[in-house]
Amino acid sequence: MAESCALDKTVDEVEPAGVRQPVAAPVAILREIARRYGTPTYAYEIARIRSQVARLREHFPPEVEILYSLKANASLGLSGVLAQCGLGADVASAGELVTAVAAGFPPARIFLTGPDKSPAVLSELRALSDGTKEQSNGSDVTVSLDSVSELRQFACGDRPYRALLRLRPDFCSYASCSAGPDSRFGLTLEDLPQCRGYLDARGVQVVGFHVFAGSQVLAADGVLHHLRSGLNQACRAADLLGIAPEIIDIGGGFGIPYGPRDQEFDLPQVAEELRTLVQSARPARLVIELGRYFVAQAGWYLTSVLAEQTHRGRKAVVVDGGTHQRGDLCGLDLRHKAFAPVPLQVRDGALEPTDVLGCLSLPSDVLVEARPLPPLAPGDVLAFPNAGAYGLNASACLFHCHPPPAEVAFEADRLTPLRVRAPIHAVLHGQTTIRR
Ligand SMILES: Cc1ncc(COP(=O)(O)O)c(C=O)c1O
Repeated sequence: MAESCALDKTVDEVEPAGVRQPVAAPVAILREIARRYGTPTYAYEIARIRSQVARLREHFPPEVEILYSLKANASLGLSGVLAQCGLGADVASAGELVTAVAAGFPPARIFLTGPDKSPAVLSELRALSDGTKEQSNGSDVTVSLDSVSELRQFACGDRPYRALLRLRPDFCSYASCSAGPDSRFGLTLEDLPQCRGYLDARGVQVVGFHVFAGSQVLAADGVLHHLRSGLNQACRAADLLGIAPEIIDIGGGFGIPYGPRDQEFDLPQVAEELRTLVQSARPARLVIELGRYFVAQAGWYLTSVLAEQTHRGRKAVVVDGGTHQRGDLCGLDLRHKAFAPVPLQVRDGALEPTDVLGCLSLPSDVLVEARPLPPLAPGDVLAFPNAGAYGLNASACLFHCHPPPAEVAFEADRLTPLRVRAPIHAVLHGQTTIRR
């Protein structure tokens, strides 16, 4: 049985002593992006991504390998920035794998994790190893195996992949998006004896373990519990299997403050403890995988007001975007908790609790509720902060046949379009009618 998960201080109990303000909006440049590229558009501040990496590097022991989890945002442009920063990549599909390679992550620093080991993924892995002439022993990519069944299939393969065994946490999770003992991912300790017969197989070389306990953890104590317990579980698994691990990927899940009641993540506290964990893991090398922490705060979601409305007795506006382009709004209750969007026009008038409604024919298509906003009029642009992670990539963006929003990067006053807005007729691309 997992122990109970009560920390001394949970995020919700943290009093908003002098309520936190959202990150300052670069209003002029966001306005220019909306003018040039239209809305809805994701705008990404590249300096913010670089500064998150630099902050991590400044505090972390250098022995810890850091991966960027492309699931948070697999934009080729952003992935390229993170590859240039010297990070490795955590990918979970054929699409993310080809993006990571195209973005410039060296295959030796790519970890393929998650349950997708479909023929498409295996074919990309194979193509990668065929294309890497100087090494003959399989793709350089390290593969995290999720089950005994996956291990068995790789073991029977004809090329030796470096593999980690993913362990299902046997400790409780403090994450907002939890992956604790009730998670569907990874091997349980009871599964491990069945792995023994495959450890010296032709198609797999087990070099360590992988444990991930969940995403969006704001309390440093919670993250520390995950990292310590993950390492402890990996060491127990190694003893049980008689393996000396070379690599232990202990996850991450560092959170970012989405709203006024969220605390700032205490990176120095976590980094301090990591020094101890690095020593206890030796000679194994520790790996941390993070997505949201690098990209969330760099992202702004720009939408234009289409009309004024009322909703649940409050003032409301309808915008040209919606929850179909904001996968991050599900699961974290950001509709109620997130900072208000920033209006990019200046209008006189008192702030009033206002709802921002998306353009879908769906009652739950509400971007934020009762946020303090000034008077708004059709044509005004709203910029939603902290929208860089699990937004577009995690969304049901084809709903109502909307083409995906544009994506634009900005650094100082330089704008780089990362994804052009597809014309409306692009929704017909690849489809056919049925002939009688
Ligand atoms: C296995 C795994 N690794 C890494 C991540 C990235 O988490 P985050 O974006 O919170 O850093 C996730 C997110 O769900 C995950 O499932």
